[in-house]
Amino acid sequence: MFDPLHLIDGEWCAEEGVAPIQVLNPSDGQPLLEIARGGQASVDKAVAAAQNALDGDWGQLDAAERGSLMFRLSALVLDHADKLAELEALDVGKPLKQAKADAIACARYFEFYGGAADKLHGQTIPYKNGYTVMTVREPHGVTAHIIPWNYPMQIIGRSVGAALAMGNACVVKPGEDASQTALYIGKLALEAGFPKGALNIVTGFGGEAGAALSSHPGVRHISFTGSTEVGRLIQKAGAENTIPVTLELGGKSPQLVFADADIDAALPFLVNASIQNAGQTCSAGSRLLIQDSIYDEVVGRIADAFNALQVGPALQDLNVGPVINAKQCDRVKGFIADAKASGLPVLGEGKIVSDAPDGGFYVAPTFFGEVSPDHRLAQEEVFGPVLAAIRFKDEADALRIANGTKYGLVAGVWTRDGARQMRLARKLEAGQVFVNNYGAGGGVELPFGGMKGSGHGREKGFEALYGFSTSKTIAVNHN
Ligand code: NAI
Ligand code: MG
Repeated sequence: MFDPLHLIDGEWCAEEGVAPIQVLNPSDGQPLLEIARGGQASVDKAVAAAQNALDGDWGQLDAAERGSLMFRLSALVLDHADKLAELEALDVGKPLKQAKADAIACARYFEFYGGAADKLHGQTIPYKNGYTVMTVREPHGVTAHIIPWNYPMQIIGRSVGAALAMGNACVVKPGEDASQTALYIGKLALEAGFPKGALNIVTGFGGEAGAALSSHPGVRHISFTGSTEVGRLIQKAGAENTIPVTLELGGKSPQLVFADADIDAALPFLVNASIQNAGQTCSAGSRLLIQDSIYDEVVGRIADAFNALQVGPALQDLNVGPVINAKQCDRVKGFIADAKASGLPVLGEGKIVSDAPDGGFYVAPTFFGEVSPDHRLAQEEVFGPVLAAIRFKDEADALRIANGTKYGLVAGVWTRDGARQMRLARKLEAGQVFVNNYGAGGGVELPFGGMKGSGHGREKGFEALYGFSTSKTIAVNHN
């Protein structure tokens, strides 16, 4: 196991005299473990350790050597995938199978970025006679990674993976409700042989450890995934230190289903994209836009699927687990109550199993019909297992509705018409558009990030390496 302490400079530590944070198990609402509560002092130490690593052993490594360490970490994550899955299931409440898939994706991120570490080339640029000009990619330096609680393993894999590959040294602040897999990955990184200080982890509250980290003058880049509200604070903190930030702020992602679509193929995607991880997914397909002529058929089939969903403790590994905490539970139930009060019909509803512990944070997955595009349920991110069906007339109508929110993270298009596929793919305001699929099963290789209120910057895929490094132009006059 590991100690639920901060990992700083290769050592496990905590601030003296500071009481730890009590973490609850969302499946039963009971105490799960205590984690260290970091603040300015821990963050100062972690940033200094990361800078020392850059100035020392970590900064001396060849790109290929960094890649080899990452391959070793990837292999260790795979070896420990069952343990990691159990920890994330307990912390987050996600069903075990989903947690296991996240552990495997995490390993794949370290493998993908390990392989990429020595493959991002600079350029040579034709210039004046007697000059040779080149660009080189360099790390930013110390990078901060503020991680949410919904997909800790995947988000650490994607952001820390790309940052380490480019030679940055990282300080990670996991979500206060779900820090265990971050710490476990830190332990595995030490086993893999990463030099001390290359990867530091400070646990704690957002307003304390998170705020101290995002405003630290020693940090040269911030990667943040979470709420719009905190994203704005992060961008302001970045502005104070004039450093780049990558913001991934969730969405209200639409799936557009046309009358000519292969409904049998679409159905599992339409359901899963809204209930995976109890709907607490930035890219959740939470708006279902259906063409009039097939509306009744499609909502009927989705209602049947919702009615068959079983909700229960993470370790029972049913379709849906609890949501993360009491606050999120109240928030999601508030959306549901509000939608019911406004007269929206409930078309389908999952069942909370009878032996689900009373104290757990359970929400029955709920499928609403006849949602108007300007309803709160069609505009705001619920971050819970709630799906809103919206009718549309034609392609122009569908596009207008799809683009009619403040968000722009992901969109799905279901149609057999090739020209329409391309027209919509180009016109939808989203960082990723999926045609006749959704989410592409994780897509470690696929650049990911938002337009509009969903944020900016790209993580995942090769493109992330540009964000986690900077370009330097070197002009040599050899006349
Ligand atoms: P949050 O944005 O507060 O938490 C995300 C991370 O930011 C956590 O590590 C947290 O400790 C940290 N943080 C919080 N305040 C901070 C601050 N002042 N400075 C620096 N770091 C700070 O999200 P929260 O409150 O857990 O969830 C609220 C809503 O945010 C959700 O209902 C959902 O709509 C959205 N959200 C979206 C996510 C996504 O994947 N895009 C992930 C988590 C939440
Ligand atoms: Mg918050």
